[in-house]
Amino acid sequence: MSQDALKRAVAAAAIDEIRPLLTADAVIGVGTGSTANCFIDALAAYKHDFRGAVASSEATAQRLKDHGIEVFELNHVGSLPVYVDGADEINARLEMIKGGGAALTREKIVAACAERFVCIADASKRVEVLGGFPLPIEVIPMARSYVARELVRLGMTPVYRDGVITDNGNQILDCFDALFEEPARTEAELNNLVGVVTNGLFARRPADVLLLGTESGIERHTR
Ligand code: 5RP
Repeated sequence: MSQDALKRAVAAAAIDEIRPLLTADAVIGVGTGSTANCFIDALAAYKHDFRGAVASSEATAQRLKDHGIEVFELNHVGSLPVYVDGADEINARLEMIKGGGAALTREKIVAACAERFVCIADASKRVEVLGGFPLPIEVIPMARSYVARELVRLGMTPVYRDGVITDNGNQILDCFDALFEEPARTEAELNNLVGVVTNGLFARRPADVLLLGTESGIERHTR
């Protein structure tokens, strides 16, 4: 099965997973990326079963609107029953690296407001130790060089993602050459650097459920 077919399969499984939570007043969180896009496309068939969605990026907001799904400001909503999103890497504790699509900060905010985080991913995203995928860090533009020097001091190799401006008007450093054995500790440490908006380690708020698309079917993992 192709990677795209696996993404569509996990998106369909996510619909089955969240359908019991779709009520007339439910506003759900929706993530960003190609797997999340498959989920949005599948969700469109159920748009009359729930109130709307909070989007983790402008691109996701546009795709939801194109399907006729109402998009709400997070500040106007409150708690969300569920957040569905992809990941760049995910380990057995359902800790993740996210931000390959530069939406990590909004993704982390929406995830923080969700009662349940359902991660949807194809089998290539499952790893033993996080860090094979370069860790994205969103930085305030004027702090980029300072943060990069601090990351080098911590043993990482940051690379400026040239030409990318996040939805928040910031820049991205992708950190190579690091394996994260204690991702929750590193997540907090990196967020403490002045000028960092957030980093792509999702360990302090990991996923609650992982739907993993494999050649032999959908695996469901929980914490
Ligand atoms: C975007 C993300 C995505 O969830 C992550 O990059 C996975 O994307 P895809 O589903 O396209 O592989 O964190 O910022």
